[in-house]
Formats: sequence, C-alpha cells, structure tokens
Amino acid sequence: AYTAEPFVPGRGGLVALRRAAAECRGCPLHRDATQTVFGSGDADARVMLVGEQPGDQEDRQGKPFVGPAGKLLDRALEEAGIDPSEAYVTNAVKHFKFTQAEPRKRRIHKAPSLREMTACGPWLAAELAVVEPELIVVLGATAGKALLGSSFRVTQVRGTVLEEEIHGRPERLVPTVHPSSVLRSDDREAAYRGLVSDLKVAADALS
Ligand code: URA
Ligand code: SF4
Repeated sequence: AYTAEPFVPGRGGLVALRRAAAECRGCPLHRDATQTVFGSGDADARVMLVGEQPGDQEDRQGKPFVGPAGKLLDRALEEAGIDPSEAYVTNAVKHFKFTQAEPRKRRIHKAPSLREMTACGPWLAAELAVVEPELIVVLGATAGKALLGSSFRVTQVRGTVLEEEIHGRPERLVPTVHPSSVLRSDDREAAYRGLVSDLKVAADALS
C-alpha cells in the first residue's frame, strides 16, 4: 500500500519534518507536482487548520493556502476573531493532484483518492503530535474524511465542536466548508457568512 510512513522521522520538530517531507515518495503524487507543500505556522499554535491539498499557487510557492482560497480564508478567520498568523495551516495531502489537457495548459485540481489521503496521513499525525493544537478546524469534506473517516458529512456537523480520537490522540474539532467551495458558490455572500459563522464557533471554543 502507498504510505509516507518510512519517510517520517521518529524524532525532531517541524523543521525536521518539513525537510523529510520534501523527500517523500509515499505515493505517486510527488511525480507530477513541483514540490511537497508542508504545513506552515508555529509549533505552539493553539489552532490547526486542515485543508484538502495544495492548489496551483501553493504547488508553485511551496506554502499552503497562499492562493485565492487562502486569501478568502484569512479574511474569514480575521472576521471570526482568529489571527491567521497564529494558526498552524496544513493539508490532508501534501502534493498537488491535477489534470492537464496539454503541457503548459492550465492545471486543474483533482480530488485526492482515499488511498492517497491514507498514504499521507502519517505527516498529519506527526504535525498533530508536535503542535498539539487545542482545536482542529476541518476545512471541507476531504479533510473531514481524512481525519474522521469516510462517513464524514460536512453538512451534518459543520459549526459544531466534535470530540474524537485522531491518530491516537483525543482532539476537539470544528468542521466547516472548504474556502474554495465559497468561491464556487452561486450565493457567495451567504456561503461566506456561513464559513465565518462556523469559524466563530471555533473562536469561542478557543477562548
Ligand atoms: N486548498 C486547500 O485545500 N489547500 C490549500 O493549501 C490551498 C487550497
Ligand atoms: Fe508523500 Fe503525501 Fe506527497 Fe504522497 S502526497 S508523496 S504521501 S507527501
């Protein structure tokens, strides 16, 4: 089975993890992507945000949530009372998966498979063990399935505080929609309000 496990160092902090993740060959996604996009933020962050996978901009720049979805997320976090610079931000899958009709054509995001999410899980487990966040904000269905299993339904649990064992640790989680889904929504304003309202639940759970 695909797995990142043999690439994850048994000790060391975020610097060691990030360095090792750059060399991960745990699944085929490293082949076409530019680079590993590891999490970003401080080891003492109180809140960890988990997205799906890097997008086009993230793949080029090597940092999570630096593209359009990230801009929207930062604005929503600030509005909800969470300082984006104090959050640890990462993804369930650390390489960009895409389709491309021809070389130099636009690269179109493709959802990672369950196998790829499972393969990449050891990196998320290692990040959780180092950061030990007080709260995890789950951004969308893919992150939810990666963390909570395939029966996860974002519409059923968004904006609530869940208590679950994640990679062997008791965690508190607040799920919400993925910021990209706000950008794609027919009613962007309402979708954005919904995201902010869920993030306020997270902000309250932190205070
Ligand atoms: N979408 C994600 O899920 N993660 C990113 O880093 C960027 C866009
Ligand atoms: Fe490794 Fe995850 Fe990249 Fe697959 S997606 S190669 S498991 S870092």
